[in-house]
Amino acid sequence: MARGVGVGFRPEFAGQSEQVLKHVDFLEYNQRRSLEMVRQDLTPYLGQIPVVIHSLNLSLGSVQPPPEHRLEAIKRTADLVDASWVSEHLSYCRHDDIEVDNFIALPYTDESIEIVSRHIINLKNLLGRPVIMENITHSFVWPDKQYSEAEFIKRVLEKADCGLLLDVTNLYLNSTTHGYDPYEFLQTIPADRVVQLHLAGHSEVDGQMVDSHVGGIDATVLGYTEWILKHTACDAMTIERDSEMSSFDDLLDDLQLCRELYTKYGKSPISK
Ligand SMILES: [Fe+2]
Repeated sequence: MARGVGVGFRPEFAGQSEQVLKHVDFLEYNQRRSLEMVRQDLTPYLGQIPVVIHSLNLSLGSVQPPPEHRLEAIKRTADLVDASWVSEHLSYCRHDDIEVDNFIALPYTDESIEIVSRHIINLKNLLGRPVIMENITHSFVWPDKQYSEAEFIKRVLEKADCGLLLDVTNLYLNSTTHGYDPYEFLQTIPADRVVQLHLAGHSEVDGQMVDSHVGGIDATVLGYTEWILKHTACDAMTIERDSEMSSFDDLLDDLQLCRELYTKYGKSPISK
């Protein structure tokens, strides 16, 4: 079972598996279409450390269920790596034949909760593994909402009986953009459903905070992380890095920060 401090696997780690294995407790792997690519990327790690699968395009919040071929592909990947769990975003990116390369916030309504929960339950049943859902960044909130973002997430987790992939950087950005109290958000989320954290550096462009996945996790994000490790069941932290990175070594500073926090507050610290 994945726990401790992990990183999102990136192609830039090629040839560095020894270094990766020395510093991380588990890997998060972004779902790829070809099982052969998955094998190529992960062979040095399988059987060495746990792997969790991060899915990007099932669009579980769409009215229509995910395409069969994508469900089959993720099932094959999860089985190949014996994934501790599979995560997906609490959002949608597809309507009929139109698909966008972005995560769109769901309306915070009972109808949305019904739809997304049904798709999460079906995915869990198909995979035979836990499914956890990630809070996304969003620049707008649909009108006529019935719930706050936190209350909406809580209701989905309970209705679908699933866990939360809590992206702490996304929480920071959303609470700043939309002017809500992040601790009120955290206290609304059921503590026993927080399974995994995402942490990443962000950028500010023209006064806008952008979830750019750079290095240098913000001190505010680390502060929220301390609270989460202290008050929830979460036992797995993950660094997401997609910008300004040439090799795994670029993650070492952030990894050390996370390791220090995990050791200080972790429920079951892993000795490396
Ligand atoms: Fe994330």
